Amino acid sequence: MRRRLVSRLIDANPVVGEQLNGNGHRDQGLRCGRTMEEVTMRGRTLGLLMGLASVTTVAVAQTPQQTVQARQANFKAIGKATKAVMDETRKPSPDLGIVRANAAQLVTLSSQLPRWFPKGTGPEAGVKTGAKPDIWAKPAEFRTAAVNFNRAARALNAAATKGDGTATAAAARALGGTCKGCHDSFRAKDD
Ligand code: HEC
Repeated sequence: MRRRLVSRLIDANPVVGEQLNGNGHRDQGLRCGRTMEEVTMRGRTLGLLMGLASVTTVAVAQTPQQTVQARQANFKAIGKATKAVMDETRKPSPDLGIVRANAAQLVTLSSQLPRWFPKGTGPEAGVKTGAKPDIWAKPAEFRTAAVNFNRAARALNAAATKGDGTATAAAARALGGTCKGCHDSFRAKDD
């Protein structure tokens, strides 16, 4: 079940696949019997990630405190990009180039999101965080919420790239739904 989900993720999204795989502890199934295709995909993903490195905030942190601060900074960037999308799509004639640029950033950030929650960085670490313990108690559900966000960001990017204003507005609303979809279950309300 978990393995099926992970391979579905990889099919749909090499970046998420690579990162979930790189998470280490949960996806042993993928480590044995790696196929040539997976190896190639890893190479491509690495190239993609290196290409994105200049525009990406990567959470490399030692202490729980640093990890939490880095992920909160990433969520602030997500909030900023999402607001830019919403503000633009509400205009009578939205600039879809602006939407696309922010959607691309959301694609990148959403694909990294699962990596921002290593074990031991919840409230039990004694740091100020809105991350609920259920993130670690229900990892498959949390991952699904992250994948839904990534898919919505991709759909938004695609609609804006096509230049379809109506589809872009609908995709922006759907994107907003995926924030709520995760926050309702996994983010403490008054953090
Ligand atoms: C898969 C789950 C998930 C998704 C999807 C998600 N979030 Fe969050 N978000 C969280 C969690 C968990 C926190 C609390 C992080 C912490 O405090 O350590 C958070 C925190 C935030 C914060 C507060 C950051 C700070 O501390 O200042 C903002 C803003 C935010 N999210 C915006 C968004 C927006 C906008 C979207 C959708 C475009 C979104 N999030 C999608 C889980 C998610």
